Amino acid sequence: MTLASGLDVGAHPLARYRNEFPIFRDQIYLNTCSLGALGDRTRRRLEEFLDLWQARGASAWYDVWWAALGELRERYARTIRAGPDEIALAPSISVAISAVAEALDYRSRPRVVVTSLDFPTVAYQWLAKRARGVELTVVESPDRISVPVEAIARVVDERTALVATSHVYFTSGAIQDIQAVAAAAHAKGALCLIDAYQSVGQVPVDAGASGVDFLTAGGLKWLLGGPGVVFLYVRAELARRLAPTIAGWFGHRDQFAFDPRTLSWHDDARRFELGTPSLAAVYAQLGGLDYIDEIGIPAIRRVTAALTEDLIDKARDRGFRPHVASRADERSAIVMLPAADPAAAVRHLATGGIIGDARPGHIRLSPFFYNVQDDYVAALERLATHVDH
Ligand SMILES: Cc1ncc(COP(=O)(O)O)c(C=O)c1O
Repeated sequence: MTLASGLDVGAHPLARYRNEFPIFRDQIYLNTCSLGALGDRTRRRLEEFLDLWQARGASAWYDVWWAALGELRERYARTIRAGPDEIALAPSISVAISAVAEALDYRSRPRVVVTSLDFPTVAYQWLAKRARGVELTVVESPDRISVPVEAIARVVDERTALVATSHVYFTSGAIQDIQAVAAAAHAKGALCLIDAYQSVGQVPVDAGASGVDFLTAGGLKWLLGGPGVVFLYVRAELARRLAPTIAGWFGHRDQFAFDPRTLSWHDDARRFELGTPSLAAVYAQLGGLDYIDEIGIPAIRRVTAALTEDLIDKARDRGFRPHVASRADERSAIVMLPAADPAAAVRHLATGGIIGDARPGHIRLSPFFYNVQDDYVAALERLATHVDH
């Protein structure tokens, strides 16, 4: 079928990559927003790491492994159009955000603003600091799909240190206008942190142009690198100015001096790094980025947007009422289908060889460039025999 976009969702140009993702040999995978599928290139990079470990032991650190860390910072930077000096590596989004949370001064600005749709690990950073006088304001969503930027702007004031929210909401797939959020924060002298875990890889991100101060994303989902490595973007000028208050030797500008008496930060975002990164995760992420970089995120977005729109239309035809943003340009490739018992529905999909996901009140399907129309048609057919929507 050819869509208005001119794209054939049955045999679109990126479907040629599908045979590099072995999970499709015997299953239909529609859950990239939880975990990207394992590709052959990712497996090969991981095997390369194991071979080096076996053959060279620690001697691989000082040339190839060190270079792999630099390569990853550079490639992450390119993915969001940032400079490599604006990227710190971290093991999880929670760690990346907590490094920022520990670098802010809350004395005259004790308030942090989040939204009710953000992944809760964002809010937890500041709930954990309540005893230190930090106040958390949670902006509600009127429709559980998105949060009007005006509602965020209304609560940001001269006592606000930070607005911390999502680019793509994991709860609805809606894309938030992060440029507008950053402007609302800056209008009152606050900073802006964006959790872009659900966006980087599936929708284009230009960190510099967006004006945000911090942005974090990583391998697990749309960058096809699996768990264990993420990045923290810190705007260059801030990266030189902010002093972290949790520390590790990777943040020290002369880490191999092994001097316990002084702590001199890197003069870039690496001051937010802590301890030894998981090299297996780094290699897996480099393999995942081989796909993303070869295809390019704009081309990925064209395909996933077409698949998403078609999935939504077909779901509606089958009587579902997808819980998604009202405008196509605000929708990403996360489609929420309301269901009375989503866990049972997802189990029903699984017994038919289809992997989706459940969230409270919803089945969650997330097509990526390796999916084709037949995948979600099969999922919807199977759900129609089971789900009370
Ligand atoms: C938007 C978003 N942020 C953060 C997380 C959790 O990140 P981490 O487990 O790396 O702290 C998730 C889920 O995996 C997520 O969807």
